[in-house]
Amino acid sequence: MVTFRRALRLDGMQSSSTMAATAAAARLRAEGQAVIDLGAGEPDFDTPVNIRRAAARALEEGKTRYTPASGTAELKQAIADYIAEETGTRYPTSAIIVSAGGKQTLFNALVSLINPGDEVIIPAPYWVTFPEIVAFCGGASVFIPTHRQDFRLTADLVERALTPRSKAVIVNSPSNPSGVVVPPDAIREIAELCAARDLWLISDECYYKFVYPPGRPFSAASLPAALRERVLVSGSLSKTYAMTGWRIGYALAHPDWVAEMTKVQSHSTSNPTTFAQWAAIEALRGGQASVGAMLAEYQARRDWIVPALDALPGVSCRQPEGAFYAFPDFSVVLAKAGLRDADFAQRLLEEAGVVVTAGSAFGADGYVRISYANSLANLQRGVENIRSLIERLG
Ligand SMILES: Cc1ncc(COP(=O)(O)O)c(C=O)c1O
Repeated sequence: MVTFRRALRLDGMQSSSTMAATAAAARLRAEGQAVIDLGAGEPDFDTPVNIRRAAARALEEGKTRYTPASGTAELKQAIADYIAEETGTRYPTSAIIVSAGGKQTLFNALVSLINPGDEVIIPAPYWVTFPEIVAFCGGASVFIPTHRQDFRLTADLVERALTPRSKAVIVNSPSNPSGVVVPPDAIREIAELCAARDLWLISDECYYKFVYPPGRPFSAASLPAALRERVLVSGSLSKTYAMTGWRIGYALAHPDWVAEMTKVQSHSTSNPTTFAQWAAIEALRGGQASVGAMLAEYQARRDWIVPALDALPGVSCRQPEGAFYAFPDFSVVLAKAGLRDADFAQRLLEEAGVVVTAGSAFGADGYVRISYANSLANLQRGVENIRSLIERLG
């Protein structure tokens, strides 16, 4: 028997816990169990029909060959036009790279930036992938536990986390998993701090469009030019256009950073899928009514589920301003039952058929992430099943 020994750089890397939750749900379903999946970070809507048709047209027209590694000129132009319309900033196409989703963008960005020993400041709760990529690069994540400060991220908190090894800061607003929106002033102040301290700011804007009224989407692309130079904006079509499986994301960044990322991409995946790029042009240039409709539906679900979770005994749930996640605090329930959040999530799955993700996966023990990208009926059933388990735990 041959023994496979993985590379040292993978020591400590965990599989994505959010993807693991989805896989666990699929397993139980295959066994014939009824499962309510509140774990998936994925829109439950189909990709809008105009985008699907554009992909079909691209296939018909034979758009199936390699494109430049960093994406087609046409898609980069569409991204530049979209960002200019949204933010008033016109990026040159040399400052744009298209990737196979936000995840690849972030991987390329960190691999091109981080040296062994560099520190990356990451507010917690954080998206599970950030620290994994930093560790892969040999860097160290320095967490700011914002959940202990009312989920408020400020430049002052970032400043206090700085050391001579600090290289970059990652801000994700609206946040996965908390749904928190960082106020634009705070993002500007963090960008100013980065400019003053020779740091790079990565703004993960995967949920950019999903901000609930009266809030409005804010992109770091709209910061003044002098600040923007040090900012990489990571955008994705996955959530905005219900295009998770299409794998299209993009970065807006310093052209030299984009050139390095392009090099990495040219030796890893080459271009993002060609006909998906053509469909992405339709997503960005076509009618945007479907985005508004999805946002309105997410809002209706949020407005139902957050008070429902907050009303559970021993649970408190703050109102998320964006994305499609609720992040309730279960610490009172867990302390009473003598359980850790991961045990609770496991029991919810096995005894109540509800998939959630434990807060500890996001660096926030005692919390649970609940995705409300699911029908209202399923959300209602899910919350009832959670209530039953809490009652059984006593
Ligand atoms: C915060 C955040 N950033 C980036 C991504 C990457 O999404 P994709 O690779 O599908 O663009 C996700 C997906 O869940 C996310 O939640």
